[in-house]
Amino acid sequence: MQDLEGKVAVITGAGSGIGEGIARAAAAAGMRVVVADIDLEKARAVTAELERIGAQAIAVATDVSSLESVESLRDVTLEHFGAVHLLCNNAGVWIGALMQNADIRDWQYLINVNLYGVIHGVKTFLPLLVEQGEGHIVNTASVGGLISGPPEGLYTTTKFAVVGLSEALLMEVADKGVGVSVLCPGLVDTNLITQSFAMRPQSLDPGIDHQQPAPDVASGISPLTVGEQVMDAVREGGFYVITHDDYRDIIQMRHDGILDALDAHAARYGSTSGRKLDPQ
Ligand SMILES: NC(=O)c1ccc[n+]([C@@H]2O[C@H](COP(=O)([O-])OP(=O)(O)OC[C@H]3O[C@@H](n4cnc5c(N)ncnc54)[C@H](O)[C@@H]3O)[C@@H](O)[C@H]2O)c1
Repeated sequence: MQDLEGKVAVITGAGSGIGEGIARAAAAAGMRVVVADIDLEKARAVTAELERIGAQAIAVATDVSSLESVESLRDVTLEHFGAVHLLCNNAGVWIGALMQNADIRDWQYLINVNLYGVIHGVKTFLPLLVEQGEGHIVNTASVGGLISGPPEGLYTTTKFAVVGLSEALLMEVADKGVGVSVLCPGLVDTNLITQSFAMRPQSLDPGIDHQQPAPDVASGISPLTVGEQVMDAVREGGFYVITHDDYRDIIQMRHDGILDALDAHAARYGSTSGRKLDPQ
């Protein structure tokens, strides 16, 4: 989607961090912006900033873990701006917990926001984009959607799923005029760690292990830099938006491990190429 001037961007989790960075970059590109966040006060503060630089923007209270709330976001957007062209499913939370200790409700907290948040966005907005034959969806995963390790098991489970969903979506809508990108940031200087702990349901057992070392997000790049990279991908139709190249060796190791296993399997059991996988 090359011409962004006057187009409408809906960004979830835009009251802070990367979502705010995307909102600022979208406004700078001339887009009208819907700042959606579970925290309406923060969404309003970002909206006021965007208006100060001359952009049209509205704040909408949205809980991405609720399908009804995301449907209401769509309705308010259409009522106010009449269309949607760019959807950034960005809202997300983090918990560092070893799987041997994690409460099932911690899993549910992360899956409901990080994975169902993206699913609700796609389910609700994709038909509009397909119908108008133009649009772009950006799903925020993480470099943790490409590589994994403790204590990030819960988080990377959700982010690997977002990468898989996005890869399939890219192929599904390739001929429908709808672009797809998956954002895989490394460390970005945001409120992710503090915010995620603050919003974690109070009912959860405080005794479980959530004090694993957290990523040092304060050492990360600026959210606006990420937002500008997202806008480049939207204009150019880029799929993987990987904000750091520090993880090249680990990504290489992971993929080499998979290919080595494939070669070892073929060497031991014979190649399956050209014959039915089902032995019957
Ligand atoms: N900061 C990093 O280093 C980093 C790295 C990789 C991926 N990410 C991903 O980037 C995305 C944005 O995180 P961030 O780092 O900007 O954190 P952040 O906490 O600064 O911003 C996240 C925003 O999402 C909102 N939010 C949380 N739950 C919500 C819900 N249920 N519905 C709607 N809004 C909700 C929060 O209120 C907050 O404003 C997340 O998906 C995160 O997993 C961040």
